[in-house]
Amino acid sequence: MTRQLMVAGNWKMNLDRNAGRALCAGLASQCRAAHPGVQVVVCPPFPYLGVAGEALAGSAVELGAQNSSNEVSGAFTGEVSAGMLADVGCQWVILGHSERRTIFGETDELISRKVDKALAAGLGVLLCVGELLAERQSNQTEAVLDRQMAGSLAGIDASRLNKVVIAYEPVWAIGTGLTASTEQAQSAHKHLREWLAARYNRTVADATRILYGGSVKPQNARALMEQPDVDGALVGGACLKLDDFLPIVEAARGLRGA
Ligand code: 13P
Repeated sequence: MTRQLMVAGNWKMNLDRNAGRALCAGLASQCRAAHPGVQVVVCPPFPYLGVAGEALAGSAVELGAQNSSNEVSGAFTGEVSAGMLADVGCQWVILGHSERRTIFGETDELISRKVDKALAAGLGVLLCVGELLAERQSNQTEAVLDRQMAGSLAGIDASRLNKVVIAYEPVWAIGTGLTASTEQAQSAHKHLREWLAARYNRTVADATRILYGGSVKPQNARALMEQPDVDGALVGGACLKLDDFLPIVEAARGLRGA
């Protein structure tokens, strides 16, 4: 089974209106037609979703957000619902990012409710999992991934997994310049795929894309995405400049018969 690669950019809390618009316009001009082998997604901060969507209109680049609420509507000051994101043109939302988990205290249980609401709103979910450095050093990586997967996907049945993309982001590799080696990435991704097979079934495991995130750069993107169980990249710092992000998209083009 050939899984379409995905290259997604997580802007985090970066760029402003003009810089964001320019980045999207540049990306749109390079990604006019859908590429059979690579899906490209950008995830700006909430206030810039509209301007980003306008700049991407008519291109094959898809729009995502970085978080959404576990509630549908109501008195939840400061929250943004998945339905609102769909309403302003988002196709994707990142959930369970390690910064949400560690800085904002999001639990697997909360994340699973967000996943449920996002899927119900018709969004695709980029679900992030990944271990801390101390957890890797004490050989707990697989146990941590198992716990996060089970908790974050609690109550999500197999029929809904076609809208879920997993992102393996080892926390020690995020924003540090330290990248997982190709062997470390492949091993974790293979473990995640086997988890999907055990929890769901082989068809789901084979069809589900598992992206790698954590200091992906133009220099290392190709080697990572060449791994058989690495189905693309979730890019932070290197997605903020067209000159860095485009070469990562280019690296994905040409792989997997794309
Ligand atoms: P960096 O690429 O900056 O390490 O960030 C990765 C990330 O957290 C993407 O979600």
